[in-house]
Amino acid sequence: MAKAKFSSRIGLIAATVGSAVGLGNIWRFPAETQTNGGAAFLLLYIVCVFLLGIPLMLAEFSLGRASGTDSVTAFSRLRPNSKWWLTGVLGMISSYFILCFYIVVAGWTVEYFFQSLTGDLFNGISAHASVESSNSFFTTKMEKYINSDFPPLIFTYLMILINLGVLIGGVKKGIERISMWLMPLLFLLLLTFCIISLSFPNSAEGVRFFLTPDFSKITPHALVNALGQAFFSLSLGMGTLITYGAYFPKKTKLTQTAFTVSMLDLLVAVLTGLIIFPAVSSFGLSGEDLRGSTLVFVTLPEVFAQMPAPSLWAALFFLLLMVAALTSTVSMAEVTISFVEERWKRSRRVACLIVILPLFILSTLCSLSFGSLKDWTIGGMTIFNFLDNITANYMLPIGALLISIFAGWIMPRDFMRNELRPFGAPARTIYTIIGNGVRWIVPGLILIVLISSF
Ligand code: TRP
Repeated sequence: MAKAKFSSRIGLIAATVGSAVGLGNIWRFPAETQTNGGAAFLLLYIVCVFLLGIPLMLAEFSLGRASGTDSVTAFSRLRPNSKWWLTGVLGMISSYFILCFYIVVAGWTVEYFFQSLTGDLFNGISAHASVESSNSFFTTKMEKYINSDFPPLIFTYLMILINLGVLIGGVKKGIERISMWLMPLLFLLLLTFCIISLSFPNSAEGVRFFLTPDFSKITPHALVNALGQAFFSLSLGMGTLITYGAYFPKKTKLTQTAFTVSMLDLLVAVLTGLIIFPAVSSFGLSGEDLRGSTLVFVTLPEVFAQMPAPSLWAALFFLLLMVAALTSTVSMAEVTISFVEERWKRSRRVACLIVILPLFILSTLCSLSFGSLKDWTIGGMTIFNFLDNITANYMLPIGALLISIFAGWIMPRDFMRNELRPFGAPARTIYTIIGNGVRWIVPGLILIVLISSF
């Protein structure tokens, strides 16, 4: 069976950007930036994207395209009779774990979207409520919703079904096609919010926090977080981009593609910062903790409540989040689907069902871990927090480490150079940076981070 390919350059970029741009950019990034010192963190983050993100992305693209197969078989095809395929298995498990809790949050965004449409979200709050009372109004609302059992499940399931619909459509007619529609929509919405936010009175204070670095805040701890954020945001370390790389035609220029995707992902993070921080400072909410769910489900509704037509803006914003989440969740599921299609020789439809059906059960466990199952803990963490923690802190860095060692040291020295050579001569200096990045900088920094975290 010939492997499916993306049909156009734009489509392939839209799909890959779709994977990269997700809750990681709009939800995780501002929270990380706030706790790690604002602009200093942004600076470290940008350095990590260039130094580690782009080289590792190119390693994943190269492994995927050279092998033309799923992320487990890629390793066994490129290095037969070795145990390297286990790297692919690790990645596949991480991607599935992330999918289990990520889809629950995606479900919350769907619920909030509907609540905004019907106006329920703002029922009972007046535009002149004090900051404290409006904060407690939305906090209570969020906790009540998240900690209940059934409503979140319904929306998680809805999100799973939408994913299934897209995935059954296949690489071209499903993933590529929705990304072509949804990515431009996402950028349009982001720009709109950015303009609105920057026009708020006192927006300058927020912009300053986000863009003027305080160098004393550059700490090893902030660096570790910037590194983790870069991997998560660029979808690295678990074979997602090996899987997508296998769908790239031979003529795709990998270096340009990786550069474009990373810059668009970074742009989304920066635009999000330019939306959140000015809005938060204008409405006197800077003291609020943006960690976890509060930013999106409490602080922003507080901002919307003070604008004209709150329901409209809230609905558009949660639509934006849904779109971002959807194109990321399909990419996580695709890792395993591609494996089932290829290894177990199943049709697309059957492969999608095999992968998605267990998700109903596992995501139920994650969702209920805020409600009835909150006492089911592993190492003191609820199921949701456990999966979040082991993937972000251990599985992704270890996956990224193994992938960089494989591409940089196990494969022949000219392996990546050959894959990156567009048609003519490779640009030497660029290749030197990328090659050394994959061989030295990526594994070196990850090792330091892993060792220091133990
Ligand atoms: N990058 C996505 C985000 O920012 C999430 C994601 C998709 C991801 N695929 C991944 C994270 C693979 C880590 C690895 O939300």
